[in-house]
Amino acid sequence: MISNKELQIAYGLAIILLVVGVLSYAAFSAKAPDQPVRLMFKCVAGKILFDHKTHTVDSSCSDCHHNLEEGETDPQTCGECHEPESQDEDVLNRADAFHTQCIGCHKEEAGPEKCELCHVM
Ligand code: HEC
Ligand code: HEC
Ligand code: HEC
Ligand code: HEC
Repeated sequence: MISNKELQIAYGLAIILLVVGVLSYAAFSAKAPDQPVRLMFKCVAGKILFDHKTHTVDSSCSDCHHNLEEGETDPQTCGECHEPESQDEDVLNRADAFHTQCIGCHKEEAGPEKCELCHVM
């Protein structure tokens, strides 16, 4: 025979499991903002194809999004601060910001340094 007490414990456990299940579902299905897979930059020197996804394999977000706070995933675009014709001499203009960061890391690690290997189209 199952006692009333045992039944109460069983129901209690069932309810706890249900609550834990619902909470975990809510926690893990909360999606991070979408990250770009591939980006195309248009430019007078020829378009540049940037594979964002492969670039995030070995580098952390803040290597490139240098203003990103720890744990943040939704950066501002570079151009919001690095304007094409920067008036502020402490802030690189857009093209210099990209060239410095992209080519800088390629020199240090791996990746194209020649103009035509980035400006492919
Ligand atoms: C190798 C450099 C690099 C790394 C590493 C990197 N990103 Fe980016 N990401 C970029 C560049 C460049 C852009 C384009 C910015 C622009 O258009 O001005 C970009 C764009 C984005 C955008 C779109 C921004 C918008 O509003 O259009 C998001 C979101 C983003 N990155 C998130 C991330 C996250 C999250 C990580 C880490 C997992 C990451 N990125 C790692 C270089 C990088
Ligand atoms: C919120 C504004 C902001 C955003 C967004 C931003 N930058 Fe910057 N960046 C700055 C400022 C301000 C400086 C100069 C002061 C400093 O070094 O932090 C700078 C400096 C730099 C430098 C020179 C750093 C050095 O080592 O000498 C590079 C290169 C650069 N940014 C590239 C980028 C690229 C590429 C992106 C986009 C992936 C980006 N920045 C996004 C504001 C920004
Ligand atoms: C933090 C380091 C880092 C930064 C910053 C970086 N790259 Fe790279 N990139 C690499 C490495 C490493 C490779 C080589 C990957 C391989 O071939 O396995 C690479 C390869 C490439 C390639 C050739 C392979 C491919 O993906 O088609 C292109 C094009 C490229 N990068 C463009 C860019 C551009 C444009 C930027 C700036 C917006 C940039 N990279 C910034 C590390 C970096
Ligand atoms: C690692 C990739 C890479 C390499 C190598 C590279 N560039 Fe760029 N270049 C870029 C990116 C990214 C931009 C920014 C495009 C944008 O504004 O959206 C850019 C922008 C430019 C611009 C536009 C300048 C402006 O003010 O609008 C010119 C011109 C240019 N590059 C010429 C060159 C020349 C010449 C070389 C070789 C000496 C070169 N690039 C090498 C990635 C590269």
